[in-house]
Amino acid sequence: MLGITIKSIAAIFIVTLGLGSAQDNATSGSGYVVAYPPGTHIKPGAYIVELDDITPGEHLGAVSSAFFKFPGVDVGSRYSSVFNGMAVTTKNKVNAAELARINGVKRVWPVRYHKLQYSKSAVNGSYPTLLQQTGVAQTMQELGFNGTGVKIGIVDSGVDYNHPELGSCWKTSGCPWQFGKDFIGDKYDASSPAPILDPNPTPMDCDGHGTHVSGIIAARGPLVHGVAVGATLGMYRVFSCPVDGNVYSSDDIILQGIEAAYQDGHNIISLSLGGGTWPEDPLSVACARVVEKGIVVVAAIGNDGDNGLYTAGSPAVGEGVIGVGSVDNWNITGSIATISMPYRTLSVLLSMAGSEAHPFVFETPMPIAASVDENGNDEGCNKPVTELSGKVALVRRGTCTFTQKALIAQAAGAIGVLVYNNAAGMLSPGINNTVSIPVVLISENDGLRIANGISQGKEATITAHKSAYGTFPADTGGMMSSFSSYGPTAELGVAPLVSAPGGNIWSTYPIKLGSYTTLSGTSMATPFVSGVAALLKQAHPNLRAGDIRNVLVATAQPLLDSDTGRMVHPYHSGAGLINAYNAIRSHVIFNPSVVAINGSNWNVLSNINDPHSGSAVQWIVREVKVTNTDSHRGMHVWLENSIANSLTMYMPNGSLALTPQTWPPSLHDADKLNSINSSEREEGQQNSHPQVLTPNIAEYVVAGKTSHITIYIAAPSGLRQDEHWYYGGFLNFTVTWDNDEDKGSFYIPYAGFNGNYRQIDVLAPASTGLPVIADSQMNPIDNLQMYTVTANNSALIVYSLAVPSRIVAAMLIDQNSTPLGYLPYGYIEYATRNLPSSTTPFSAAVINGTVYVDKGATQLVSIPAGKYRVQLSALRPFGNEMSSADFQTWYSPLFNIG
Ligand SMILES: *[C@@H]1O[C@H](CO)[C@@H](O)[C@H](O)[C@H]1NC(C)=O
Ligand SMILES: *[C@@H]1O[C@H](CO)[C@@H](O)[C@H](O)[C@H]1NC(C)=O
Ligand SMILES: *[C@@H]1O[C@H](CO)[C@@H](O)[C@H](O)[C@H]1NC(C)=O
Ligand SMILES: *[C@@H]1O[C@H](CO)[C@@H](O)[C@H](O)[C@H]1NC(C)=O
Ligand SMILES: *[C@@H]1O[C@H](CO)[C@@H](O)[C@H](O)[C@H]1NC(C)=O
Ligand SMILES: *[C@@H]1O[C@H](CO)[C@@H](O)[C@H](O)[C@H]1NC(C)=O
Ligand SMILES: *[C@@H]1O[C@H](CO)[C@@H](O)[C@H](O)[C@H]1NC(C)=O
Ligand SMILES: *[C@@H]1O[C@H](CO)[C@@H](O)[C@H](O)[C@H]1NC(C)=O
Ligand SMILES: *[C@@H]1O[C@H](CO)[C@@H](O)[C@H](O)[C@H]1NC(C)=O
Repeated sequence: MLGITIKSIAAIFIVTLGLGSAQDNATSGSGYVVAYPPGTHIKPGAYIVELDDITPGEHLGAVSSAFFKFPGVDVGSRYSSVFNGMAVTTKNKVNAAELARINGVKRVWPVRYHKLQYSKSAVNGSYPTLLQQTGVAQTMQELGFNGTGVKIGIVDSGVDYNHPELGSCWKTSGCPWQFGKDFIGDKYDASSPAPILDPNPTPMDCDGHGTHVSGIIAARGPLVHGVAVGATLGMYRVFSCPVDGNVYSSDDIILQGIEAAYQDGHNIISLSLGGGTWPEDPLSVACARVVEKGIVVVAAIGNDGDNGLYTAGSPAVGEGVIGVGSVDNWNITGSIATISMPYRTLSVLLSMAGSEAHPFVFETPMPIAASVDENGNDEGCNKPVTELSGKVALVRRGTCTFTQKALIAQAAGAIGVLVYNNAAGMLSPGINNTVSIPVVLISENDGLRIANGISQGKEATITAHKSAYGTFPADTGGMMSSFSSYGPTAELGVAPLVSAPGGNIWSTYPIKLGSYTTLSGTSMATPFVSGVAALLKQAHPNLRAGDIRNVLVATAQPLLDSDTGRMVHPYHSGAGLINAYNAIRSHVIFNPSVVAINGSNWNVLSNINDPHSGSAVQWIVREVKVTNTDSHRGMHVWLENSIANSLTMYMPNGSLALTPQTWPPSLHDADKLNSINSSEREEGQQNSHPQVLTPNIAEYVVAGKTSHITIYIAAPSGLRQDEHWYYGGFLNFTVTWDNDEDKGSFYIPYAGFNGNYRQIDVLAPASTGLPVIADSQMNPIDNLQMYTVTANNSALIVYSLAVPSRIVAAMLIDQNSTPLGYLPYGYIEYATRNLPSSTTPFSAAVINGTVYVDKGATQLVSIPAGKYRVQLSALRPFGNEMSSADFQTWYSPLFNIG
């Protein structure tokens, strides 16, 4: 089984192993070249040179003139306001390591490409509900705020500023667009060895992403109404036109956009983009510095939610940046059909296959038949025993492709296919052009209703008029979007901070692409939060950036997970759904905005014993500052603990899960409940959740004053530590005001790892079959002792990281355990967790009889014939790279190099 899994990704490594950057001897100078993992999409010969942590701009001149001594080095953009450094390109194999050794250089980062990630929705979203559910509608109507006077800089793919809902203007008087430019142009192709930059004064959008994002902030109707239509805007275009459907930018260009937005004096910078996962990443560093300068920075957390924990991206994970997760729209609109059954008529939403060739239109009622094969299977993947001729076939999603279902129904004489979903949500059923009958997808609930009716012997017909539209509540409405990335950050920071509508969002689109469309992504949730931040800034102009963040987080509404009865974990939703009205009317600031329990500061509270085990519990103590910003009224604060689901990436049997498992388990998933019970996890146990142990539960805060509340949080001692649980919850502060009925709840999310995070296993567990030595075709080598590696018969060490690791080193050692050097691709830094459904589910280094004696991979030496092992070491969280005890280390069996 392992052989098959690994083999299937062989192609990936054969491609990505060739893509490594020029990596150099980094040990002798003060600076070093960051070694990204193989597979990182890197711009050849391009680097960001980061200078020492001094005032940005200082030493820039000296260092760049030192670079002129190297023929073949071109200094590109210089960054001096929020990032300290410059972009360089090197030709003729100039050693990036030599650049790193120049005095004043801290790190040299290979430039990565970033691809815009978002998806077109299968149905249209309806926007009024979004504004209602987030307090924006009430803010506009009751308080009259629309962002007037607040400046928002958007770094994106540009904007179609000719769109009538976006002002039809560029930098003219009264125009919302007063700032911005295009840093990339229309000719850029990231697949070419030297992509062409063609900057332009006006950032026209040729993709659509930036125009959609702009509409969420500022569209003025009639079809879309933005969150902050009065704001003054800047567009900094950093993304290319689509090339084969892909839209790219790179670190150096995005940094230019961020710097320019900062220099134009925006109050808020909105970034629906990202990549990488470490707060040390250049984009995170730049954004953290923008925050330090008092600007609100809002960034998308990422769309890798289906890969589970540790998928939060940079720059959203930067210190102080507001990382944003996505919830699905409540209402969706689209084409409808009417289903008639005796005593019952249903109006159902249709998700079209996307091809105009065979529109799903039946102007007169047509019979529906539930397709079943000879085994009673209703997925339509086998020859049906049901008579389908002249009928519309109803089949369940699953097992085979939409095209296969359609072709089978077509062969049986069906005139159309209704596929009903096997999970919540809607998607477009992709079919190819061999299908000549109309195909649509309907929701699981609608499908089950029809299937039940038919199974009770009722006759069902369908009518679908051309251009018949309707609006329906979505079954995932108000829930976290399945794509929304999870935290924590690499070293247990809480991410995202808040969530906003991002699934099925209807907004403006370039005129030549149809003027409007519905897109899904945390890209869409980000401008929503930027718009809300603008409303808050307009209402409270003196609020500092850090307090804008604190207020937005504290006034968000935690989401309930109806499957478990607990709140959604902060690593998925942050503090929950943003609410503009609550934020503006709060009159109270809680600081900090989140409590990250990162394992570096545990104590043992000796007088509290866990009733279950009898031993002392782990706890932390934190101080929360509560400021009453009301000038007249005193306020009372009560603290409660609102518990969230605990999460783990491990199954009860110790193997890795694809998606996070929750505690408590889903009430609707009997299988999961059974398997969890079998592992002796007791339900309802008091100590299976974190506790807030706080001596002073109530506090009175005088008008205009700040109180300090000391809070103790204890880990859930009843969850098994070997199961790697991440627990969390919300410090729930209820505030009441003197002489007032007014009452409000404010939340500080807290989260941490149940156990000693410094000792966590970084490598995926042995049940994955990794690490393993495999041949160049990725087949694990069974009898390694008998195996001989030669230059022409190379092997691979294949491994997978279960959590991010700052340094991973694969070295060759001899029989006496003497290290000989790093394997090719064997030394990498700022590694991310290997995501199961991504292009890099595993990582690998090459065993071919040569090693590099330096981390920077400049000096390759040949290894004499003999017996050797691989020593694979991955630095644990917060580890010190000088201490071997801080690494998790694995040794391979002996093999021969010949
Ligand atoms: C925003 O609100 C102000 C009133 O505060 C109003 O004058 C202005 O027209 C509004 N802007 C837009 C674009 O609706
Ligand atoms: C949108 O959804 C809300 C809440 O689910 C519902 O109350 C409202 O009627 C819906 N609006 C439309 C136009 O369907
Ligand atoms: C969404 O709305 C647009 C404009 O009204 C329409 O052209 C398009 O067909 C709709 N898409 C779907 C999936 O209903
Ligand atoms: C269409 O899909 C079917 C089923 O997956 C496949 O057998 C066929 O080769 C495809 N045809 C084309 C033209 O892509
Ligand atoms: C742990 O989190 C606190 C803030 O909650 C932070 O100040 C501290 O630096 C973190 N520790 C480490 C080792 O990251
Ligand atoms: C926070 O506490 C208030 C007051 O007890 C309660 O009404 C509210 O439901 C709590 N919120 C959550 C998310 O548990
Ligand atoms: C562990 O359990 C999961 C799900 O129940 C199953 O898919 C997997 O094969 C099991 N792994 C082992 C090693 O038993
Ligand atoms: C081993 O692999 C590295 C990296 O691909 C390559 O540079 C080196 O030439 C190879 N050594 C041999 C002996 O093939
Ligand atoms: C790195 O390069 C310097 C100068 O080129 C050399 O002296 C040194 O030995 C190298 N370090 C390693 C670890 O190879």
